[in-house]
Amino acid sequence: MTDLSSLQKEIQEKLTQVHDPKVLEELRVEYLGRKGKIADLFKNIATLPNEEKRQFGQALNQLKEFAEQAFSEKTASLENQGAKTDQSFDPTLPGVSTKLGKLHPITRTIREISDIFVRLGFEVVDGREIETEFYNFTALNIPLDHPSRDAFDTFYTEQGHLLRSQTSTVQIRMMQSRKPPLRIIAPGRVYRPDTMDASHSFMFHQIEGLMVDDRTTFSDLKGVLHVFLRTLFGDDVKMRFRPHFFPFTEPSVEVDVNWGKGWLELLGAGQVDPAVFKEVGYHPNKVQGFAFGLGVERIAMLKYGIKDIRLFYENDLRFLKQF
Ligand code: DAH
Repeated sequence: MTDLSSLQKEIQEKLTQVHDPKVLEELRVEYLGRKGKIADLFKNIATLPNEEKRQFGQALNQLKEFAEQAFSEKTASLENQGAKTDQSFDPTLPGVSTKLGKLHPITRTIREISDIFVRLGFEVVDGREIETEFYNFTALNIPLDHPSRDAFDTFYTEQGHLLRSQTSTVQIRMMQSRKPPLRIIAPGRVYRPDTMDASHSFMFHQIEGLMVDDRTTFSDLKGVLHVFLRTLFGDDVKMRFRPHFFPFTEPSVEVDVNWGKGWLELLGAGQVDPAVFKEVGYHPNKVQGFAFGLGVERIAMLKYGIKDIRLFYENDLRFLKQF
């Protein structure tokens, strides 16, 4: 008799744990099947003393009824649940979409520009944002008392380091650590103590380019830049070299573009000054090449028609979502 009540408990417990109709059927066979546990117990009746047969038989019948009821209730409840889940799935409703992040327009512009130069055989390299006067000025042929130092002035740390004000620093680091031929571009942040307004920021991004070997000429510079600008702005873009001065290139130019909106100044460039080659230990008579530097924000603003540089830095999703 105690076996019967513990069997009843066992069935109850197991049923509460079942959530799968298949498992439920296996359980039903285990207890109520023709060779199941309850059927086995019915066979035992014959071996009992006569006076016990009746009582045990009644109890066993009750257990059987209980089990049948419990199993059919459980079957119904699982069916019910299944039906509910089926009804709650409406394949005609729009799906739940995941919100994906996007690349910042500056990052996109850097990647787009880098891709063009990579196709031309340039390697993308990294520099440092915290630099020394040597890399930001002296090695680039800008002596302490040179007036053009004002144009590239920057923030200084108390230890005498500075935040680079131009990516041209990477030219020096690359030439010091590698031998020609060199074809690199170096994207990154630069800093200047400018007051923020629609076209100025104390921090912005530049991409520096450098190509050096024993034969690269000014016309190679023109060819490379022309391919670059046509890829970026379309085949109809016109390009113009305007004489300019930079301490680290000679001759130097500013490059303007025109794709139907008038001439716009875009970047600075020139043949690397022999004084810079000397500084990095290259033989100025044996190597030659060009360098250029462009402002990423400026290009992004022209490309996307953005009128205020501050929009790039405000993290306003209404602006950023548009790219
Ligand atoms: N470093 C210059 C600037 O920040 C840009 C530049 C001009 C870079 C001429 C060059 C170059 O490499 O040849 O205004």
